[in-house]
Amino acid sequence: MKLKMMVLVATGALLSVSAVSAQDGAALLKSKNCLNCHAIEAKKMGPSYKELSAKYTKEAVPVIAKKLKDGQGHMKVAATDDELNAIVEYALSHK
Ligand code: HEC
Repeated sequence: MKLKMMVLVATGALLSVSAVSAQDGAALLKSKNCLNCHAIEAKKMGPSYKELSAKYTKEAVPVIAKKLKDGQGHMKVAATDDELNAIVEYALSHK
């Protein structure tokens, strides 16, 4: 009985970690300091997310997420794959 409870708790913890939704993208954008160099509407050090949304389709999300993770042509971003996918999906959603 006790063991069963522990398994249930552990499974719940795993599920909540991997379930980063697109809605979290907006919060992550802030917490990962993307907004230091980017803004939704205006160009700062980096291009605005509106400009990037016009340039890229949804298919580009995993490609750009990988770029940010590996630091290819961009500063390296410390975040999980799920977080990066959520952030980039949100960033590119400003059509
Ligand atoms: C230190 C400043 C800085 C920070 C912090 C930063 N960026 Fe950028 N970003 C840039 C600059 C400059 C560019 C334009 C040059 C380039 O494409 O790398 C850019 C480009 C991009 C692009 C377009 C990449 C492409 O291939 O066209 C995306 C998407 C992006 N940033 C997302 C993010 C996200 C998401 C975060 C936060 C996790 C973030 N950036 C944090 C400076 C920054």
